[in-house]
Amino acid sequence: MAHGKLEKNIGLLAVLVAIAVSLGGLAEIVPLMYQAEAIKPLPGMKPYPALELAGRDVYVREGCYNCHSQMVRTLRFETERYGHYSLAGESVYDRPFQWGSKRTGPDLARVGGRYSDDWHRVHLIDPRAVVPESNMPAFPWLERNLVDPEAVQLRMSRLQKLGDPYTDEEIEAAAAEVEGRTELDAVVAYLQGLGRYAPRGS
Ligand code: HEC
Repeated sequence: MAHGKLEKNIGLLAVLVAIAVSLGGLAEIVPLMYQAEAIKPLPGMKPYPALELAGRDVYVREGCYNCHSQMVRTLRFETERYGHYSLAGESVYDRPFQWGSKRTGPDLARVGGRYSDDWHRVHLIDPRAVVPESNMPAFPWLERNLVDPEAVQLRMSRLQKLGDPYTDEEIEAAAAEVEGRTELDAVVAYLQGLGRYAPRGS
C-alpha cells in the first residue's frame, strides 16, 4: 500500500530517490577518499616531465579520449592483452584523469614502449600508412604546431599550486626543454611514458 502512495506522489518520490542515490554515492565515494593508496602516487612516481605534460594537453585538446581509455580493468582478457591492471595511484598526477570505457581504439594505459617513436609519428600523421584497416583520424597538424614554452611553464606552476611536486628549478628548466619541439614530439613523448609506473607482469 505504502508503495502505491509513494509512486503517485512524484515530489516525495523525487526526494526519496535523491536521498537513496546520495547514500549510495556516499557509501562508495567517502571510503575511497580516506584510502591512502588511492590518493597517493606510487613509490618513486614523479609528475609528468615538461614535454610529456605538453603532449598530454594536446591529447586532451584533440579528444583522443573519445576513442581511447587509459584504464586496464581487473579482467583476465584485459590484463593478458594490455598488461597489469591500472592502479589508482598511477593517475594521481592526471588532471583530468583519462579513465573511461569508450574504446573505439585500444586502451592506451600501457602503450609506452610498445612501438618506436617513428611508428607513432607515422601513425599520428597518417594512421592508414601503418595500420591499413584503421579508422583513426589523422592529426597531420601536430607536426606543424610548436609547443608554447610559456604555456607549459604556466601549466606546471598551476599544478605545483595544486600540490604536484614540481620544483621551481624544473619549471625554470621546462622552457628550454620544450623550445622548438612540435606538438607531435610532445604527444609521442607522452604516449611513450604511459604505463611507466605500472607493476611488471599481470
Ligand atoms: C575516432 C576514434 C579515434 C580517435 C579520435 C583517436 N584514435 Fe587512436 N586509434 C583508433 C583506432 C580504431 C585504433 C586501432 C587502429 C590503429 O592502430 O590505427 C587506434 C590506435 C591508436 C594507437 C595504437 C594503439 C595500440 O596499442 O596499437 C595509438 C598510440 C593511438 N591510437 C593514439 C591516438 C592519439 C594520440 C589520438 C589523439 C591525437 C588518437 N589516437 C585519437 C581510434 C581513434
